[in-house]
Amino acid sequence: MIIPTVGKTLLRITVIFFSIFLALILFTPSFPFFQYPVNSLPSYRPEIWSLRRIVEWRPCNWWIQGHPAALPAKSNGYIRVECYGGLNQMRRDLCDGVGVARLLNATLVLPKFEVAAYWNESSGFGDVFDVDYFIQKMSGFIEVVKELPAEIASKEPFHVDCSKRKGLYDYVESVLPSLLEHRYISFTPAMSQRRDRYPLYAKAAFCQACYNALRLTSTLEKKASELLEAIPKPFLSLHLRFEPDMVAYSQCEYSNLSPASLQAIDAARGDRKAWTGEQARIWRNRGKCPLTPNETALILQALSIPTNTNIYLAAGDGLMELEGLTSVYTNVFTKSTLHSGEDFTSMHGNTKAALDYYVSISSDSYVATYFGNMDKMVAAMRALKGLPKTLFLSRRGFAVLTSQGLKGKALLEALWKVHRDDFVMGVGSALPDCFCEYKL
Ligand SMILES: *[C@@H]1O[C@H](CO)[C@@H](O)[C@H](O)[C@H]1NC(C)=O
Ligand SMILES: *[C@@H]1O[C@H](CO)[C@@H](O)[C@H](O)[C@H]1NC(C)=O
Ligand SMILES: *[C@@H]1O[C@H](CO)[C@@H](O)[C@H](O)[C@H]1NC(C)=O
Repeated sequence: MIIPTVGKTLLRITVIFFSIFLALILFTPSFPFFQYPVNSLPSYRPEIWSLRRIVEWRPCNWWIQGHPAALPAKSNGYIRVECYGGLNQMRRDLCDGVGVARLLNATLVLPKFEVAAYWNESSGFGDVFDVDYFIQKMSGFIEVVKELPAEIASKEPFHVDCSKRKGLYDYVESVLPSLLEHRYISFTPAMSQRRDRYPLYAKAAFCQACYNALRLTSTLEKKASELLEAIPKPFLSLHLRFEPDMVAYSQCEYSNLSPASLQAIDAARGDRKAWTGEQARIWRNRGKCPLTPNETALILQALSIPTNTNIYLAAGDGLMELEGLTSVYTNVFTKSTLHSGEDFTSMHGNTKAALDYYVSISSDSYVATYFGNMDKMVAAMRALKGLPKTLFLSRRGFAVLTSQGLKGKALLEALWKVHRDDFVMGVGSALPDCFCEYKL
């Protein structure tokens, strides 16, 4: 996880503080949110993006402007970070790994990118990201080498298993001894780590690696910018997650789905049976259930996003029930509709994910129905580029409001309020670690 526990708690406290703050100013009639008083229901709402924000996440000064401490005179050894899973999960692990390597005063060997089975491909770091750019941008933050010294190059790194650790993980205590002993180690960063206790130079290396040193290879960037050019402007990039494996994994139940979708979900379920009855309701109200395209369209309408908005679907091929969206929002574009010359069905998963990422950090607005690795990465990059129109739809808000029986106009009104508050307070795009809250 990118958010450490302590960070989460802090975040929560901050959110509570600002909710109170917001409540106070909302009831002050002069507050210039909109042209009309908030407590009388308007028949017309402005598009969500036109609201004035109170809080915004921006890169922290200590990282962007600060000078990192001088690199240690002597390296403790070489580290290769091993990254698995989807493109953005691998990137997350790479960022963590760089932070750890700097923490241990180690030299970084180019990371190994492996690929999840469902993508059915194998591609390395250099297939996706510009290696020379990475090395150049990391200069001063950590030493990176393309080639190992001859006496080490012949052997495989000693693999340190960080995966089985539960709870907070202390790298200096658990990994440094192996590094000193073997001189060349590899590991996949543990999910939970004590980044809060890192010295600033290690945090800065992490931030720099994650957000300032990764650029797509020129081949990929060319493809991506061609795709970007083909999308009608202005446009919203929508990361919709309603694929069979996603739904199966969520253990949620849906009514009103087509038999084909139900069958696809059942096939993907395996042992993960869906919750039923009261359990299902509680689970749903905790925000665990992916939004359907239908529900997404409803929320977008509640946010007064016009139905003729150009929407780029930053999503995989397996989306179900897409008519729920396209029957309302009629200008929806996908990779395949835009780029007929390109064979997207044979394109590697990594490549497609890279295209969606590139388009999403360049779009006028970005809406995600989920808070996954891609969404966190895109939100952070948009904050870095000063693109504020970023929003995560509230699955929890939607579930709670509908379970209270709200329908029609009342539901739209309530959904508007939930997302308005998220957007104005920057809650929907809270970014930990390298980003700080700024009051506007
Ligand atoms: C890394 O180097 C710094 C000084 O540059 C030192 O303070 C720190 O203790 C070192 N850490 C390790 C794990 O060697
Ligand atoms: C993976 O690739 C192989 C060879 O290209 C192909 O035979 C196989 O069907 C593919 N599997 C999936 C799940 O796409
Ligand atoms: C989509 O939403 C409408 C009402 O908002 C509902 O009547 C319909 O059954 C939904 N369809 C699906 C597939 O959920």
